[in-house]
Amino acid sequence: MLKVLVCVSGGGTNLQAVMDAVDAGEIKNTEIIGVISNNKNAFALERARKKGIDALCISPKDFPDRETFNQALLETVKEKNPDLIVLAGFLVAIPPAMIEAFPNRIINIHPSLIPSFCGVGYYGLHVHEAVLARGVKVTGATVHFVDSGMDTGPILLQKAVEVKQDDTPKTLQQRVMEEAEWKILPKAIDLIAQGKVTITEGKVNIQ
Ligand code: GAR
Repeated sequence: MLKVLVCVSGGGTNLQAVMDAVDAGEIKNTEIIGVISNNKNAFALERARKKGIDALCISPKDFPDRETFNQALLETVKEKNPDLIVLAGFLVAIPPAMIEAFPNRIINIHPSLIPSFCGVGYYGLHVHEAVLARGVKVTGATVHFVDSGMDTGPILLQKAVEVKQDDTPKTLQQRVMEEAEWKILPKAIDLIAQGKVTITEGKVNIQ
């Protein structure tokens, strides 16, 4: 059984897609052992509690400085002892100590085709605003392993999505979620749970 801890910050539609895929047997051999949010108002926490999943908030606002918050986050994560940490719209820079403690065991969903529209400042709706401002015709989503850089880790899955002429950032965000994110994130977890994913020289191989 792959023990998965999901980290969230907002609405939690990706978390929902993962929970639904576990229930439907599309993600096999996997248990979601907990959900952590940095934002106590995140609707994602309610989604988790509704499913009977342990959901808690660790907010930077409750700590005197970033370092203390980072330590508390890492301690809580270590206590849960997950096999895999899934960042599903978790808008917090992952502390280096956490990446060291869980090498190649943290994955992130990003709402663009990396290496386009990623890195510092590219998160949530900002990504889709930048896509429309540049006028690209195709965008998409990426699931990647988390390393010490920002959106630079080995790419596990990607899916392309058409950009339409009359898109707004919100309509594009919705289409990228529906057509790409909610599909490739559950698929990525299932591949890992089945032991089909290896990384060599910074690149992902899927058996
Ligand atoms: C998703 O679109 C996810 O790709 C994005 O935040 C949204 C969270 O939505 N993540 C990033 O931008 C990370 N750089 P959700 O809470 O409904 O899953």
